[in-house]
Amino acid sequence: MKSDLPLPDDWKRLVEAARDVRCHAYAPYSSYSVGAALRTADGRVFTGCNVENASYGLTICAERVAMCSAVAAGAPGPLVLCVSVTGPPTPCGSCRQFLNEFNSDLCIVLDDNTSDCPPECVVLKDLLPRAFS
Ligand code: THU
Repeated sequence: MKSDLPLPDDWKRLVEAARDVRCHAYAPYSSYSVGAALRTADGRVFTGCNVENASYGLTICAERVAMCSAVAAGAPGPLVLCVSVTGPPTPCGSCRQFLNEFNSDLCIVLDDNTSDCPPECVVLKDLLPRAFS
């Protein structure tokens, strides 16, 4: 799915932050490291990486770690979230639903860290049509 959504002005800063935090991913079971950087309406940036667990089901995705960090800091709603992986990125269904709670118009920057092209930008409501809220 290609989107016409323009990249936010600070996309490079968000890509850099998502790539940096991805280095801290705890992913011994999948070996799939994910980084996320989220900008809230007050301009602050919150980051997260995936944190896996031996029980698998308790694994927490990078996007949700970043979102929880923003909530815990008392930040206002998220406006942009960048997710960075090696290969084609896309937030999982659980993360789409989780993020939808805070902003269905959230702009999501999809960074494949092996690509030389600028990342694609999509809006959450296009990834989660007819969301439950
Ligand atoms: N993962 C994320 O961090 N975000 C997503 O949107 C998709 C999946 C993580 C969870 C797990 O640690 C690994 O990627 C493989 O599923």
